[in-house]
Amino acid sequence: MNFEKKNFFYRKKQSTIVDHTNGVVTSKSHSNIALIKYWGKQNNKIQIPLNSSISYSLGKVYTVTRLIYKEKKQRNFSIRILFSGKEKTSFLPKILEFFHRISLYCSYLRDLNFIIETYNTFPHSSGIASSASSMSALALCIMKIEKKLVSSLNLKEDFFFKKASFLSRLGSGSACRSIYPGLVVWGFHKSIKGSNNLYAIPYPYEVHSIFTKIENTILIIDDKPKKILSSKGHQLMKNHPYARDRLKCANKNMNRLISILKIGDFQEFGELIEHEALSLHAMIMTSRPYFLWMKPNTLNVIHSVWDFRKHSNKNIYFTLDAGANVHLLYPIQEKTFILKWIYSDLFSYCKKIIESFCL
Ligand code: PMV
Repeated sequence: MNFEKKNFFYRKKQSTIVDHTNGVVTSKSHSNIALIKYWGKQNNKIQIPLNSSISYSLGKVYTVTRLIYKEKKQRNFSIRILFSGKEKTSFLPKILEFFHRISLYCSYLRDLNFIIETYNTFPHSSGIASSASSMSALALCIMKIEKKLVSSLNLKEDFFFKKASFLSRLGSGSACRSIYPGLVVWGFHKSIKGSNNLYAIPYPYEVHSIFTKIENTILIIDDKPKKILSSKGHQLMKNHPYARDRLKCANKNMNRLISILKIGDFQEFGELIEHEALSLHAMIMTSRPYFLWMKPNTLNVIHSVWDFRKHSNKNIYFTLDAGANVHLLYPIQEKTFILKWIYSDLFSYCKKIIESFCL
């Protein structure tokens, strides 16, 4: 039995499918930004991370997906995708691969044809995790169908979200964290109860109030699709000369973060997330082949943040995703002052500014 079949979501045959197999379901799912980054996948396994990660789900940046399904006779997949109202055939290969992967756990999908109507509130493939929100929105839609069709399952809420996270992961690793609001952990870490590689869980420990209301301003430095996708980057962790040290460091950082979140030290928190962001980019810069996601304006922003922090003593820190864009994190109490500074001093480096927040 292969690795993916050895878990409780796998069922040989779907039991009792009810009759009315036509319908429409809609779901919304938010993007997320990792504080401790997931980077690299385990060999010969599907979407199993090399290290545990933790993220904040983000307000204002989300995907809405409407899934229209109809019964059909042939068992092959039949899917149309409309993105912001326009037919999008270029998304089909990824979505088909996703449906093939998850059909092991959702065999009813083969009896239906689908129209996926979807839109994002932010540019896709620009370093904001559009695959995270889009794959998780789709997985939530599929679970809503499962709830309607598979009558014998009588899905418990807990199972619904666990399986939605599990399915999302098979579409895009970080997508499994987008199922929940707040701080979300994915990947086994010995200090985090319930953490595992198959699906994400809400962060289970005490969090100081300073970390419950955090602003997230996203500076879009580059709004074009990335030239190097994260899937390619993950592969480059294989035989990476610094992979072992990176994994050790990510594990240690997770332990540090657990105590930082409890005691509420924002400065320690900020230094840790900046270190994580730069470590992720350092891995990319030292892989073979090597490459750079940062643009000159990414560096201009980082240096401006460091200068501003030094002179103002304000709690503002950055993190980066797999791209050129910068996420600024700061406590809500500092919002008015910091936003004013962002628009006056950073606007010229950006294509767009998205005023978001951590959910
Ligand atoms: O979910 P993927 O396969 O696109 O990988 C994303 C990895 C990072 O965004 C760089 C880090 C993370 O944990 O989200």
